[in-house]
Amino acid sequence: MDRAGRHLVLVGLMGSGKSSVARRVGQRLGWRVVDLDAVVEATAQCSIPELFSRRGEQAFRDLETDALTTALADVEPSVLATGGGVVVRDLNRDLLRGAHHAFVVWLDASPTALAARVAGTASTRPLLADDPLGTLSRLAEQRTALYAEVAHHRIDTDAVQLDDVVDAVVALVDRKDEP
Ligand code: S3P
Repeated sequence: MDRAGRHLVLVGLMGSGKSSVARRVGQRLGWRVVDLDAVVEATAQCSIPELFSRRGEQAFRDLETDALTTALADVEPSVLATGGGVVVRDLNRDLLRGAHHAFVVWLDASPTALAARVAGTASTRPLLADDPLGTLSRLAEQRTALYAEVAHHRIDTDAVQLDDVVDAVVALVDRKDEP
């Protein structure tokens, strides 16, 4: 698979490490890093919790799709950290599966590990305001097949240090042969 000129896209549930891994991988590769949640916040000129409460989740999803479309259309390769729900929309999955634009890596983890990582972030993640473990378990049931549908690679991050996840992602990008 030719990875040249394509965007590296990280997908996975909340707490899977997409933003942190994207920042570090971008540094290592010398690629621009785009965080879709941050793009949405800049466009909406408010935080994601404010956007959810003022205009509802669908308004957030519309801006998320716009941000994804714009990011994938950029000719310069970037590392793209998506929000955990980016796979929910059919259109977004179609965009991600358009193999000319995206090399998609799924950072997977169990709901238990994710719940431990997101502890204390409910104020920035409106979907986790109540019962984070229960919510993450439900979202995992709903979304696992969707991540699998778009991902070229899955990395199980449960018992893996962040640096090792970064190494694994960089190695995937550097690799020239079909996996
Ligand atoms: C969401 C995940 C969040 C953010 C929004 C909705 C989701 O991003 O996009 O709160 O539906 O899973 P992170 O996965 O970066 O926390």
